[in-house]
Amino acid sequence: MKKELLYLPYVSAVLDDCLKLFDANCPEYFAPNERDDYKSFLEASPDAYELCFISGKLIAAFGVFPEETAISGGAFAARAASLNWILINPDMQGSGIGTELMSRALSRARLLGAQTLKIAASHKSAPFFKKFAAKTVCEKQDGWGPDMHRIDMVIEL
Ligand SMILES: CC(C)(COP(=O)(O)OP(=O)(O)OC[C@H]1O[C@@H](n2cnc3c(N)ncnc32)[C@H](O)[C@@H]1OP(=O)(O)O)[C@@H](O)C(=O)NCCC(=O)NCCS
Repeated sequence: MKKELLYLPYVSAVLDDCLKLFDANCPEYFAPNERDDYKSFLEASPDAYELCFISGKLIAAFGVFPEETAISGGAFAARAASLNWILINPDMQGSGIGTELMSRALSRARLLGAQTLKIAASHKSAPFFKKFAAKTVCEKQDGWGPDMHRIDMVIEL
Protein backbone atom coordinates (compact mmCIF):
# COMPACT_ATOMS: atom_id res chain seq x y z
CA MET A 1 0.00 0.00 0.00
CA LYS A 2 1.33 3.44 -0.94
CA LYS A 3 2.10 5.52 2.15
CA GLU A 4 0.57 8.97 2.36
CA LEU A 5 2.83 11.95 1.80
CA LEU A 6 2.47 14.95 4.10
CA TYR A 7 3.57 18.34 2.71
CA LEU A 8 4.62 21.21 4.95
CA PRO A 9 6.29 24.55 4.24
CA TYR A 10 10.02 24.81 5.00
CA VAL A 11 11.04 25.73 8.56
CA SER A 12 14.62 26.34 9.66
CA ALA A 13 14.40 23.51 12.23
CA VAL A 14 14.78 21.01 9.39
CA LEU A 15 17.86 22.60 7.80
CA ASP A 16 20.10 19.73 8.93
CA ASP A 17 17.62 17.11 7.73
CA CYS A 18 17.54 18.80 4.31
CA LEU A 19 21.35 18.75 4.21
CA LYS A 20 21.21 15.03 5.05
CA LEU A 21 18.98 14.53 1.99
CA PHE A 22 21.57 16.41 -0.06
CA ASP A 23 24.44 14.34 1.37
CA ALA A 24 22.59 11.11 0.58
CA ASN A 25 22.36 12.25 -3.07
CA CYS A 26 25.98 13.40 -3.31
CA PRO A 27 28.04 12.67 -5.38
CA GLU A 28 25.54 10.58 -7.39
CA TYR A 29 23.25 13.50 -8.26
CA PHE A 30 24.96 16.62 -6.87
CA ALA A 31 28.56 17.85 -7.00
CA PRO A 32 30.05 18.28 -3.49
CA ASN A 33 30.64 21.99 -4.15
CA GLU A 34 26.87 22.52 -4.49
CA ARG A 35 26.35 21.86 -0.77
CA ASP A 36 27.25 25.41 0.26
CA ASP A 37 24.79 26.80 -2.30
CA TYR A 38 22.04 24.59 -0.91
CA LYS A 39 22.87 25.60 2.66
CA SER A 40 22.75 29.32 1.74
CA PHE A 41 19.44 28.74 -0.02
CA LEU A 42 18.01 27.09 3.13
CA GLU A 43 19.45 29.76 5.43
CA ALA A 44 17.42 32.34 3.53
CA SER A 45 14.32 30.43 4.82
CA PRO A 46 12.66 30.12 1.44
CA ASP A 47 8.90 30.52 1.95
CA ALA A 48 7.91 28.50 -1.09
CA TYR A 49 10.20 25.56 -0.33
CA GLU A 50 8.11 22.48 0.47
CA LEU A 51 8.99 19.53 2.65
CA CYS A 52 7.57 16.08 2.12
CA PHE A 53 7.22 13.59 4.98
CA ILE A 54 6.27 9.95 5.29
CA SER A 55 5.47 8.72 8.82
CA GLY A 56 7.11 11.81 10.31
CA LYS A 57 10.36 11.38 8.36
CA LEU A 58 11.58 13.97 5.87
CA ILE A 59 11.91 12.13 2.56
CA ALA A 60 11.89 14.90 -0.06
CA ALA A 61 11.90 18.63 -0.67
CA PHE A 62 11.38 20.98 -3.61
CA GLY A 63 10.28 24.52 -4.35
CA VAL A 64 8.70 26.53 -7.14
CA PHE A 65 9.59 30.20 -7.16
CA PRO A 66 8.37 33.06 -9.35
CA GLU A 67 11.11 34.36 -11.62
CA GLU A 68 10.37 37.02 -14.21
CA THR A 69 7.29 39.06 -13.37
CA ALA A 70 5.00 41.19 -15.46
CA ILE A 71 2.35 43.72 -14.53
CA SER A 72 -1.05 42.93 -15.93
CA GLY A 73 -4.09 45.02 -15.05
CA GLY A 74 -2.19 46.58 -12.15
CA ALA A 75 -1.33 43.17 -10.62
CA PHE A 76 1.96 41.30 -10.73
CA ALA A 77 1.98 37.93 -12.43
CA ALA A 78 4.91 35.58 -12.87
CA ARG A 79 5.93 35.09 -16.48
CA ALA A 80 8.21 32.26 -15.53
CA ALA A 81 8.80 30.14 -12.46
CA SER A 82 11.74 27.98 -11.47
CA LEU A 83 11.81 24.56 -9.88
CA ASN A 84 14.57 24.61 -7.29
CA TRP A 85 16.35 21.97 -5.25
CA ILE A 86 14.07 18.98 -5.81
CA LEU A 87 15.57 16.01 -4.02
CA ILE A 88 14.32 12.71 -2.67
CA ASN A 89 15.85 10.25 -0.22
CA PRO A 90 17.61 7.65 -2.43
CA ASP A 91 15.83 4.81 -0.58
CA MET A 92 12.52 6.26 -1.78
CA GLN A 93 13.47 7.02 -5.38
CA GLY A 94 11.93 5.09 -8.22
CA SER A 95 8.58 4.67 -6.48
CA GLY A 96 6.65 7.53 -8.11
CA ILE A 97 7.32 10.25 -5.52
CA GLY A 98 9.21 12.36 -8.08
CA THR A 99 6.19 12.16 -10.38
CA GLU A 100 3.91 13.34 -7.56
CA LEU A 101 6.27 16.24 -6.76
CA MET A 102 6.33 17.24 -10.44
CA SER A 103 2.55 17.27 -10.56
CA ARG A 104 2.54 19.54 -7.52
CA ALA A 105 5.30 21.73 -8.96
CA LEU A 106 3.45 22.17 -12.27
CA SER A 107 0.25 23.12 -10.41
CA ARG A 108 2.13 25.69 -8.34
CA ALA A 109 3.76 27.22 -11.40
CA ARG A 110 0.37 27.50 -13.10
CA LEU A 111 -1.13 29.10 -9.98
CA LEU A 112 1.62 31.70 -10.14
CA GLY A 113 0.47 32.44 -13.69
CA ALA A 114 3.78 31.31 -15.16
CA GLN A 115 3.98 30.33 -18.82
CA THR A 116 7.19 28.38 -18.40
CA LEU A 117 8.80 26.37 -15.63
CA LYS A 118 12.59 26.56 -15.66
CA ILE A 119 14.72 23.73 -14.32
CA ALA A 120 18.48 23.84 -13.82
CA ALA A 121 19.06 20.09 -14.07
CA SER A 122 22.13 17.90 -14.43
CA HIS A 123 22.87 15.21 -17.00
CA LYS A 124 21.81 12.71 -14.31
CA SER A 125 18.35 14.19 -13.66
CA ALA A 126 17.54 15.58 -17.14
CA PRO A 127 16.10 12.24 -18.41
CA PHE A 128 13.60 12.35 -15.54
CA PHE A 129 12.44 15.90 -16.41
CA LYS A 130 12.18 14.94 -20.11
CA LYS A 131 9.34 12.64 -19.09
CA PHE A 132 7.41 15.81 -18.16
CA ALA A 133 8.06 17.42 -21.56
CA ALA A 134 11.03 19.47 -20.37
CA LYS A 135 13.14 20.69 -23.29
CA THR A 136 16.85 21.38 -23.08
CA VAL A 137 17.78 25.01 -23.73
CA CYS A 138 21.45 25.00 -22.73
CA GLU A 139 24.10 22.46 -21.77
CA LYS A 140 27.32 23.20 -19.93
CA GLN A 141 30.03 20.57 -19.52
CA ASP A 142 31.08 20.37 -15.83
CA GLY A 143 28.60 23.20 -15.17
CA TRP A 144 27.92 22.06 -11.61
CA GLY A 145 31.43 20.78 -10.90
CA PRO A 146 33.78 18.09 -12.25
CA ASP A 147 31.79 15.42 -14.15
CA MET A 148 28.45 17.00 -13.23
CA HIS A 149 27.12 18.67 -16.36
CA ARG A 150 24.50 21.41 -16.21
CA ILE A 151 21.41 21.05 -18.39
CA ASP A 152 19.04 24.02 -18.38
CA MET A 153 15.51 22.96 -19.30
CA VAL A 154 12.06 24.51 -19.64
CA ILE A 155 8.55 23.12 -19.53
CA GLU A 156 5.93 25.13 -21.45
CA LEU A 157 2.81 25.34 -19.29
C1 LIG B 1 15.28 12.92 -10.11
C2 LIG B 1 14.32 12.47 -9.00
C3 LIG B 1 13.61 13.70 -8.42
C4 LIG B 1 13.29 11.50 -9.59
O1 LIG B 1 12.39 11.09 -8.57
P1 LIG B 1 11.83 9.57 -8.49
O2 LIG B 1 10.90 9.49 -7.35
O3 LIG B 1 12.96 8.63 -8.52
O4 LIG B 1 11.02 9.49 -9.86
P2 LIG B 1 9.76 8.52 -10.21
O5 LIG B 1 9.85 7.27 -9.40
O6 LIG B 1 8.51 9.31 -10.10
O7 LIG B 1 10.08 8.17 -11.73
C5 LIG B 1 9.26 8.56 -12.81
C6 LIG B 1 9.88 8.03 -14.08
O8 LIG B 1 11.15 8.69 -14.28
C7 LIG B 1 12.20 7.72 -14.37
N1 LIG B 1 13.38 8.31 -13.73
C8 LIG B 1 13.48 8.75 -12.46
N2 LIG B 1 14.71 9.27 -12.26
C9 LIG B 1 15.38 9.12 -13.42
C10 LIG B 1 16.69 9.47 -13.84
N3 LIG B 1 17.56 10.08 -13.02
N4 LIG B 1 17.06 9.18 -15.11
C11 LIG B 1 16.19 8.58 -15.97
N5 LIG B 1 14.91 8.25 -15.63
C12 LIG B 1 14.53 8.51 -14.37
C13 LIG B 1 11.68 6.50 -13.65
O9 LIG B 1 12.32 5.33 -14.09
C14 LIG B 1 10.21 6.51 -14.04
O10 LIG B 1 10.10 6.05 -15.36
P3 LIG B 1 8.75 5.26 -15.89
O11 LIG B 1 7.64 6.28 -15.80
O12 LIG B 1 9.09 4.91 -17.29
O13 LIG B 1 8.58 4.12 -14.97
C15 LIG B 1 15.06 11.70 -7.88
O14 LIG B 1 15.76 10.63 -8.46
C16 LIG B 1 16.04 12.55 -7.07
O15 LIG B 1 15.70 13.12 -6.04
N6 LIG B 1 17.32 12.62 -7.51
C17 LIG B 1 18.36 13.29 -6.76
C18 LIG B 1 18.24 14.77 -6.76
C19 LIG B 1 18.25 15.39 -8.15
O16 LIG B 1 19.01 15.04 -9.03
N7 LIG B 1 17.38 16.37 -8.32
C20 LIG B 1 17.31 17.16 -9.53
C21 LIG B 1 18.10 18.39 -9.34
S1 LIG B 1 17.53 19.65 -10.42
